[in-house]
Amino acid sequence: MNSYHSYFVELLVLQCLALASASLGYNFHYFVQQWPGSQPYVTRKSCYPTTGKPATNFSITGFRPYYKDGSSETFCNVSNNPFDLSKISDLTSKMQANWPSLARPCSDSTTGLWSHEWDKYGTCSESRYLPGEHAYFKAALDLKDRVNILQILEESGIQPNGGFYNLSSIHSAIHKAIGYDPWIKCNTDASGNGQLYQIYLCVGRYELTFTECPVLPRTTEDCASAIKFPAF
Ligand SMILES: *[C@@H]1O[C@H](CO)[C@@H](O)[C@H](O)[C@H]1NC(C)=O
Ligand SMILES: *[C@@H]1O[C@H](CO)[C@@H](O)[C@H](O)[C@H]1NC(C)=O
Ligand SMILES: *[C@@H]1O[C@H](CO)[C@@H](O)[C@H](O)[C@H]1NC(C)=O
Repeated sequence: MNSYHSYFVELLVLQCLALASASLGYNFHYFVQQWPGSQPYVTRKSCYPTTGKPATNFSITGFRPYYKDGSSETFCNVSNNPFDLSKISDLTSKMQANWPSLARPCSDSTTGLWSHEWDKYGTCSESRYLPGEHAYFKAALDLKDRVNILQILEESGIQPNGGFYNLSSIHSAIHKAIGYDPWIKCNTDASGNGQLYQIYLCVGRYELTFTECPVLPRTTEDCASAIKFPAF
């Protein structure tokens, strides 16, 4: 090997080391929104947040740090840094409108989802890009402002009217609007029809902008090729 080649090999080794240390910590977030008309606590148990019937709109479920191999850490720093409502008092009304506690038992329906998501995922996202609880919730609210999923779907003729829509049309409407493919989660209504439940988008760790998903939550979506979009 001549000296040029050994220099080149050394550079490669250094680059690999740099990449290895840069990849410590999580790589991206799943930004998950849900449709209230498909949320079992709401539709089957009539369990509303204390603020009343949630808006006829998608709402935030979670903002969750993940590694690009599909794994995640959870409950990273709860004992030192548990959910503290007083840290987000200026965001509370916006949180109630955009991140209602739908996916929780009724008794837990005001701040239950917020404290669950912070303790489980938010404590693992602390960094200089998301320095603490306020920054975490604010970032998620800002993301929701940037992507009006209901409007995107309605503009493609996909309405929450109890009709069935092609899964591929839902994918392409969202892809057309934001430039990236969502991952869609379905569940079933009380009669066993597959329905649109949650929409996952990926968000970069540093820029906090939408990005291609480095890895999907699962390789396939549990949706039929045509799914119901229930009224709410
Ligand atoms: C855990 O929380 C404490 C209190 O907010 C904070 O000072 C510390 O930096 C956090 N540790 C990590 C690893 O995030
Ligand atoms: C639905 O949420 C979007 C933000 O994602 C917001 O811009 C819009 O005003 C909301 N629509 C309704 C009807 O609440
Ligand atoms: C939905 O899919 C079916 C079967 O692939 C196709 O025939 C139909 O044209 C599609 N409808 C829309 C609105 O894309």
